[in-house]
Amino acid sequence: MSAYGSVTPALIDTLRAVVGPDHVLTDPEELAVLGRDFTEDLQGRPDVAVAPGCTAEVAEVLRLASRERVPVVARGGGTGLSGGAVPLEGGIVLSTRRMNRILEIDRENLFAVVQPGVITQTLQDAVEEFGLFYPPDPASKGSCAIGGNVAECAGGPRCVKYGITRDYVTGLEAVLPSGEVLRVGGKLLKDVTGYDLVGLLVGSEGTLAVVTEVTLKLIPLPRRVRTLMAPFPSLEAAASAVGGIFQAGIVPSCCELLARAALRVAEEHVGRNFPNEVREAEATLLLEVDGQREEDVDRDAMALGELCLQLGADDVLLAQSPAHARELWAIRRAMGEAVKAQGPYREYDVSVPRARIPEALRAIDEVTARHGVRHLSYGHAGDGNLHVNVLRDGLSPERWEAVLAACGPEIIRRIVALGGTISGEHGIGCVQRELMPLRLGPAELRLCRAIKQAFDPQGILNPGKLLPDEAPAS
Ligand code: LAC
Ligand code: ZN
Repeated sequence: MSAYGSVTPALIDTLRAVVGPDHVLTDPEELAVLGRDFTEDLQGRPDVAVAPGCTAEVAEVLRLASRERVPVVARGGGTGLSGGAVPLEGGIVLSTRRMNRILEIDRENLFAVVQPGVITQTLQDAVEEFGLFYPPDPASKGSCAIGGNVAECAGGPRCVKYGITRDYVTGLEAVLPSGEVLRVGGKLLKDVTGYDLVGLLVGSEGTLAVVTEVTLKLIPLPRRVRTLMAPFPSLEAAASAVGGIFQAGIVPSCCELLARAALRVAEEHVGRNFPNEVREAEATLLLEVDGQREEDVDRDAMALGELCLQLGADDVLLAQSPAHARELWAIRRAMGEAVKAQGPYREYDVSVPRARIPEALRAIDEVTARHGVRHLSYGHAGDGNLHVNVLRDGLSPERWEAVLAACGPEIIRRIVALGGTISGEHGIGCVQRELMPLRLGPAELRLCRAIKQAFDPQGILNPGKLLPDEAPAS
């Protein structure tokens, strides 16, 4: 028997009264679309979807859901990669799509205040008009929403120099399941007044509260960018060079590792190519340096190029123009989609101390080879964050399940032994939650459960996510 109440026709009528009849969906086909995100092949079945227009409406939806004990799954752009927005237990999908206003760009204090449905790229373009910069740049930045970025603590290539979503969120308004509105933090660069509830809510995957307003730190826009490609004779050589770059005191604004196989599928997917020297290499580092003055950035690019050659690169190529750089990034950003187009797969978004990437890759090769499966891997090597995509290829569904059941924990055990973790930027969601005890000790898990209980005592917010099921008492 489900622990949850059902979505009755009476509840749907009340929801219509709260958010307006045009903003409640019950059509099964439309609901099916809102039942999935970009994660592999997951499909949830919401009973109803609502799109509130303001915080008060979100609060009322949550009050009703609490009263009826109905699950609520908040949803932004639906581009998540760990099943965070998939409504596993049905209930209400709460879309933030109508709450999509940039409320303020504060040029004096360098902050933006936005509603959760603002598309990340839209915010970036808007602040750029004023010479300002919001750096986190997940591959889906053209369609993902700030609310989802906050929920998953999204990353992206630029985080290696500029930090992750959590480093930019200084204030939040969020609604608790009871309907109570919480306002934490603010336009503050320093704030140690008590526990860091802002930091806790960022990355909480919609399991603690529904975010309705976000205050984001901005920084001055770097006006000059140089994009370099350094092809290497082997994946190992490219991966090993990453540690050397940072050790030499250069902080690139992006440091991406592209293995040949992953690059090829992305090129095919987009229908554009990297230069031949890159295409033929076993692996390439895609690097950027940025800053305010052309001569500084050119000097850094030169130094970085020379360093790559010393560290074993076959060659160093410069993007010829901003348009050329954009084209290279379009291919890079399509990698996730290109992998998806290969058929069923499982992604591990592992993260290790950056100097251990070569060992991580060796471990992944070894485990996947032993299980007879291929992987397409790439990622934010400067962050030590790799997207490891294990492909089903011709395996039968049963064999595939068996391989995953063995292979996943083995990969994560090896990563954790290297000082690494389960997810760098995609989150735990439902696809990785059973792996959590491989990384979190009993005390950490107990505290996480206590936090969940404090925020959401009925467990209605995004059930089946982030925390593993409790082991039955023995
Ligand atoms: C990327 C996404 C998948 O880095 O995180 O392309
Ligand atoms: Zn990524």
